[in-house]
Amino acid sequence: RPRVVFGHVLHFFKDPGDPPDPTAWELFEDGALAIGEDGKVTYAGPARDLPEQLRNGAETIDHRGRLIVPGFVDTHIHAAQVDVIASYGKQLLEWLETYVFPAEAKFDRAAHARALAGYFLDRLLAAGTTTATVFPTVHPASVDAFFEQSRQRGLRMLCGKVLMDREPYAPPYLRDRSVAEAEQQTRELIGRWHGKDRLGYSVTPRFAPTSTEPMLAMTGRLLQEHPDLWLQTHAAENKDEVALVKKLFGGRSYIDVYERYGLLTKRSLFAHCIHIDATDRARLAAAGSSVAFCPTSNLFLGSGLFDFHAARRSKVSVGLGTDVGAGTSYSLLTTLNEAYKVATLRGKTLSAYRGFYLATLGGAQALDLDDVIGNFRPGKEADFTVLDFTATETLARRTEVAKDFTERLFALMILGDERAVAATYAQGHLVHDRDSGRALT
Ligand code: GUN
Ligand code: FE
Repeated sequence: RPRVVFGHVLHFFKDPGDPPDPTAWELFEDGALAIGEDGKVTYAGPARDLPEQLRNGAETIDHRGRLIVPGFVDTHIHAAQVDVIASYGKQLLEWLETYVFPAEAKFDRAAHARALAGYFLDRLLAAGTTTATVFPTVHPASVDAFFEQSRQRGLRMLCGKVLMDREPYAPPYLRDRSVAEAEQQTRELIGRWHGKDRLGYSVTPRFAPTSTEPMLAMTGRLLQEHPDLWLQTHAAENKDEVALVKKLFGGRSYIDVYERYGLLTKRSLFAHCIHIDATDRARLAAAGSSVAFCPTSNLFLGSGLFDFHAARRSKVSVGLGTDVGAGTSYSLLTTLNEAYKVATLRGKTLSAYRGFYLATLGGAQALDLDDVIGNFRPGKEADFTVLDFTATETLARRTEVAKDFTERLFALMILGDERAVAATYAQGHLVHDRDSGRALT
């Protein structure tokens, strides 16, 4: 049955930039969002202008006083690191060896992979995230577990088996035995999942140090053969990592190594890119590749302060990533809070409008999914999140005294987290309800 949801409705058409350009968004206080039987948007606008034929016979959902935004898009996260979050005392390379690889090794048991995939999706939906591009582990069964459960919940998700074959940086217990076997497994998974319902396959070499040159070359060939596949990896996150890549691969820069193997495509997503230069930005922009800005992770591991403004000035597409388990929250609101602080440390700002753009349409654009998700244009898939300005005392009070909507939105961006996510919907269906205390499948 068609549905109509009432509340304040906010969505974006482009990056509002800095200072924010108000033609980049639409805000309907006392708005309505209408969804057809097919789970697609039929209307977003003032409630009073909702066409009669859309209201008649529709189920009504009342979120008046709350804010309805497109579902959040997390452009970098690890499904197999749910138990690694908040691991003490290390920077990237030692953190991987000490905490991450042992945790990922447990995914050789399919039962573990299945249990944690469900738990992981519950966390995303509770945070208001409806689409993510996700690192599982080297084990094909971890991809099956993730995609199976994403499909059951009707979610639009990207994932792909992690490729890691280089000694000694990929440990023996978590290593592809050969490029040929990794390619075979990848091709099987692509056949099983890519383009099925709302799922897309992302070829996933972990990062340069765990990749042999033949593995990166294989990855590039796959992307050339299937231009509709995605690619996700890490790049230039940490200074020791950058030095290691220089030692192992030579080349002008870290990005140059990936470019050499044909990994810079319109559907490529590079997490972090903290330690890059103007040439790297120009190469990324020319290829239409995107960067995931992961502030909670970059601060937690002491990786550095991503230069968001330089990236956007160079026309590099940027999305937000939580990067759990180096990241410390599943919430893109919390991630925006930290992104704002990183901007401030760099002498810049990040407006609430630009922030909410990044968490929604910006992420969809970074993933080349903005033809189907990211805003409420009619025909888009109706994934949305309902935010509650009264979720906590602190937020409620700041909302109360705010002089206008812009201040309220900024308070939500800085003070909000999972508690502010009242409900999450995918294709118009409730997939998380905060007050019932559990996710609905
Ligand atoms: N670089 C290579 N692997 C990882 C990972 O799992 N997390 C982060 N943050 N960086 C990485
Ligand atoms: Fe990561």
